[in-house]
Amino acid sequence: MDQTILGIESYCDETAAAVYQSKTGIQSNVIFSQSQHQRYGGTVPEIASRAHLEKIGFIVTQALKVANRTLDNIDVIAVTNKPGLPGSLLIGVCFAKAIAWAKQKKIIGINHLEGHAFSSFLEHVVPFPHLCLTVSGGHTSLYLIHDFGQYTLLGRTLDDAAGEAFDKVAKFLGLPYPGGPIIEKLAQAANFKDFFHYPRSMSNSYDFSFSGLKTAVLYDLVKKGMYDLNTKMVSDSIDRTVQQQVASSLLVCMSDIFKNKLKRAIKDYKNIKAVTFVGGVACNKFLQEQLHTLCIAHNLPFFVPSKEYCTDNAAMIAFVGNYKAARNEFADYTLDIFE
Ligand code: KG4
Ligand code: ZN
Repeated sequence: MDQTILGIESYCDETAAAVYQSKTGIQSNVIFSQSQHQRYGGTVPEIASRAHLEKIGFIVTQALKVANRTLDNIDVIAVTNKPGLPGSLLIGVCFAKAIAWAKQKKIIGINHLEGHAFSSFLEHVVPFPHLCLTVSGGHTSLYLIHDFGQYTLLGRTLDDAAGEAFDKVAKFLGLPYPGGPIIEKLAQAANFKDFFHYPRSMSNSYDFSFSGLKTAVLYDLVKKGMYDLNTKMVSDSIDRTVQQQVASSLLVCMSDIFKNKLKRAIKDYKNIKAVTFVGGVACNKFLQEQLHTLCIAHNLPFFVPSKEYCTDNAAMIAFVGNYKAARNEFADYTLDIFE
């Protein structure tokens, strides 16, 4: 059955809408990234929900326009309803419910993480079963994916997400938010060398932990006189070389952590046919290369979405909406949010 899905995403600080058609794929993918949070060094929930409210009508209209559609020729509305910032999720869900009711359209609530986990399918045909490493500012998880909508969580972070660790270390170095892309640039300038040998958590489970790593970097900077714990101020004497060496050591450490978990999973799940790497942190070319090399060594195809589908977007939400609609997994107008 050919159907057209309007996807709406507002779980954190990106207001996004996209149109996906079952037979022909992505028709539009429009994203508004809220830059208002940069000066606070992280997302401010109240500012995020207000910004969603201001932008959502425009973004949805744009997505329909680019796809050359109106609401009348949309079959289903798929909207992120969990997990996320409650105020942000509410804007997307209320907007989706309002237009669904006004135009008598079917509606489906989508898990943001399921969106990321299947985002590779927007551009690739990935064989099942496969391993999916989802790494973003809010989440770090390893899944065994059996089929569309069927997956087992093997492990997740017990504290900070990896993207959050990048963002926080950037803050300790006096760098702007979001930290991941800047850390990557600085690390490249230091040739991705491991200067400081930060600790790799040695846990035997598939779970991750990044708060110890973050604290190790912080205390190393304090020891070097680059950060004052009392005033929470970065020293004026911090220079580009220190920033590059810290960034490079952090990235190499992250890469080792991901490689170790993946190596174990590849060994434990011998029937897997591929590996995918998704979420905002998957934009990182060094991490991509490292994981790709590991997969080549194990004779496994490796898939990473394009940048616009790695970071938060509504195309991945519409894609999940498409297979859920095909299975009649619709919600009704009582659809609610879950943190
Ligand atoms: O998936 P995403 O857009 O939003 C969440 O669902 O969190 O991910 C945002 C995260 C931020 O923490 C950002 O620093 C990180 O992805 N990120 C990167 C890179 N680009 C974005 N981390 C490392 N290297 C990058 N190139
Ligand atoms: Zn995300």
